[in-house]
Amino acid sequence: MSDEKRLKIAIQKSGRLADMSIQLLEKCGISLAKSRDQLLCRAQNFPLDIFLVRDDDIPAFLATDVCQLGILGQNGLLEKQALGNGKFAGLRQLLPLGYGKCRLSIAVPHDFDYQSISSLKGKVIATSYKGLLAQYLADHKIDADIVTMQGAVEVAPRTHLADVICDLVSTGSTLASNGLVEKDIILESQAVLVSNQIDDPDIAALAEKVTSRIKAVLRAENSRYIMLNSPIDSLDAIKAVLPGSQSPTVMPLQGRDDMVAVHAVCEEGVFWDTMEDLKANGANSILVVPIEKMLD
Ligand code: PRP
Ligand code: ZN
Repeated sequence: MSDEKRLKIAIQKSGRLADMSIQLLEKCGISLAKSRDQLLCRAQNFPLDIFLVRDDDIPAFLATDVCQLGILGQNGLLEKQALGNGKFAGLRQLLPLGYGKCRLSIAVPHDFDYQSISSLKGKVIATSYKGLLAQYLADHKIDADIVTMQGAVEVAPRTHLADVICDLVSTGSTLASNGLVEKDIILESQAVLVSNQIDDPDIAALAEKVTSRIKAVLRAENSRYIMLNSPIDSLDAIKAVLPGSQSPTVMPLQGRDDMVAVHAVCEEGVFWDTMEDLKANGANSILVVPIEKMLD
């Protein structure tokens, strides 16, 4: 047992992604030991060790093969890669995870006359994302000065450390409460599953298993099971309205020769509009239920 090979994954210890990442692993049937105060947490029922670290450190954990998988914001990964020296070039984004959505944006004070990216020429820009910002400015052939700050970037214009900022925006409330206006989006980001190059085939197989469980969880979360009764005559119209469903199951309804029951897995959002369309096409008794697990 002690020489059993274990996969190692790095996730954020606390912060925006932490809870969602732990929940995601739990939905994959991986239960963590209760204490989350430690750096290292052993999964109870899967050969997986979970490293709870600062998100900023996750790329280094992967690059040095302390961990083989990691969950972090694309912004964090791309910034490390942009800063260069090739150290993080081998890290691969396996799967966007659909949470932790934010954007890296240029924001300016209310009274700053911003016409386009050219308005940044010769200005001072404060950011924690020097690598991505420098790349963006170079792509647009803009000469500007970058001031790197680790936090509280939003106060830089008020304290005359910079003219404008480039920072993460999620709800926008930080910008609003600091009198700043978002102007240009440099990058759209979300949490992503990342891996390094895994040489050991046993570890690679474990990583593949975790990845495919995560895929299955995300797919199930985005899918709904629809049940409805449809007039036989409008079956084609009803099938056409069912969002993202492959081949619905069609069954007879006892005592009715004009109606059938239709069951389908829909892999896209099922909205009120969709249900109203189904009804308008003659469907009734429409039920939409969540799917807990799904594996092809
Ligand atoms: C980010 C960013 C902003 C804030 C934006 O900081 O630097 O301060 O979130 O979010 P909002 O648009 O919802 O207000 P974060 O909380 O990740 O912490 P940090 O700045 O200390 O890294
Ligand atoms: Zn911040």
